[in-house]
Amino acid sequence: MRRLMIIETIIFTLSIVIVVIIAPCTEAAGKGLGNGLNVGFYSRSCPNVEKIVADIVSEANRQDPKLPGALIRLFSHDCFVKGCDASILLETTRSKEPVEKKAQGNDFIRGFELIDEIKARLEQECPQTVSCADILAFAAREAVFLAGLPRHKVPAGRRDSRTSRASDVGLPAPTTPFNDIIDFFTRKGITLDELVVLSGAHSIGVAHCSFFDYRLYNFNTSQPQDPALNSTYAADLSTKCPKQNTLPADEAKKRAVDFDPTTPLVLDNNFYLNLLQGKTLLQSDQIMVSDPRTSALVKTLASDSEAWSRRFAKAMIKMGRTNVLTRDEGEIRKNCRTFN
Ligand code: HEM
Ligand SMILES: *[C@@H]1O[C@H](CO)[C@@H](O)[C@H](O)[C@H]1NC(C)=O
Ligand SMILES: *[C@@H]1O[C@H](CO)[C@@H](O)[C@H](O)[C@H]1NC(C)=O
Repeated sequence: MRRLMIIETIIFTLSIVIVVIIAPCTEAAGKGLGNGLNVGFYSRSCPNVEKIVADIVSEANRQDPKLPGALIRLFSHDCFVKGCDASILLETTRSKEPVEKKAQGNDFIRGFELIDEIKARLEQECPQTVSCADILAFAAREAVFLAGLPRHKVPAGRRDSRTSRASDVGLPAPTTPFNDIIDFFTRKGITLDELVVLSGAHSIGVAHCSFFDYRLYNFNTSQPQDPALNSTYAADLSTKCPKQNTLPADEAKKRAVDFDPTTPLVLDNNFYLNLLQGKTLLQSDQIMVSDPRTSALVKTLASDSEAWSRRFAKAMIKMGRTNVLTRDEGEIRKNCRTFN
């Protein structure tokens, strides 16, 4: 009996020792959240990389002022499916399954040509050195900057995945129940507060009518219009997104509305002020005002733009660390659309 207890104690102690020794190793391999990314990763191998990305994104932004929203969404959809591994850019894989970008959750996603342009330029400058996953992260940072926030530092060293599967795309939709949304982000290591902070990205860019027009016309059996919508705002939305079948189908599908009716090109805390007035397109955003777990933070962020922008930059950096591949994992693609 006594001997059994001693053996048990030894096994317990050993298992703790093993956990203590092994945990930091898996973290160094990029499996953990404090993974092996670091700022200045390319300072020797491709010292101009961040400047090159900045110049190309800034030039493209002059032609297309709505580009920043697209690039931030592209990066977030890369990070929240598997991890920030450029899997969203692949057009084919060895298994020939449908790829992520074909999934419904990635409808209207764009920015691929710009990533190609950056990659082509970087392959001239420093061949097979900069991953597509890091290009997405650098480009998203420039987007944040061009939309009016300070340039945040971007830890780099991500590598590119060889696989991409539409069936992995479990991204939440605007109609996903809030508890499921919270679970989804928790599993990715993003806290509820960070989700509220990151959702401020919906102060730039657009949403297509199909994501929210049910809130105007057929919300539920007792209320045709979502009572959480500001009625003045709803009236305006109805002119931009008319009832189904009043426009030709292909025209209706293209219709999109700015997230922020006041400063649509500026990344700011207006998103939270709009939320408080019922001026939001997505039900998944509007819920943050009424849910007791998030309502206080929404009010805080609405009244403190400094606090929001500081926390937003931190949360973007954290999002960029989601399940990355590092060191000898994955590869550095030569072309972002195909595995090597
Ligand atoms: C519950 C979570 C979220 C849901 C349900 C959601 C849903 C959506 C939807 C439906 C659109 C409209 C796409 C279109 O019609 O083209 C959109 C756009 C966008 N989302 Fe989210 N989103 C979520 C979280 C996030 C997060 C965490 C970020 C960033 C950090 C983000 C950044 C953006 C941006 C920048 C756009 C504008 C895209 C453009 O203008 O092309 N979203 N989102
Ligand atoms: C319709 O939506 C309102 C507002 O969210 C809610 O109070 C009501 O219970 C819903 N009715 C039905 C039948 O689901
Ligand atoms: C709805 O929008 C109007 C016009 O922008 C604003 O004055 C009003 O306060 C808003 N209503 C609510 C309930 O916030």
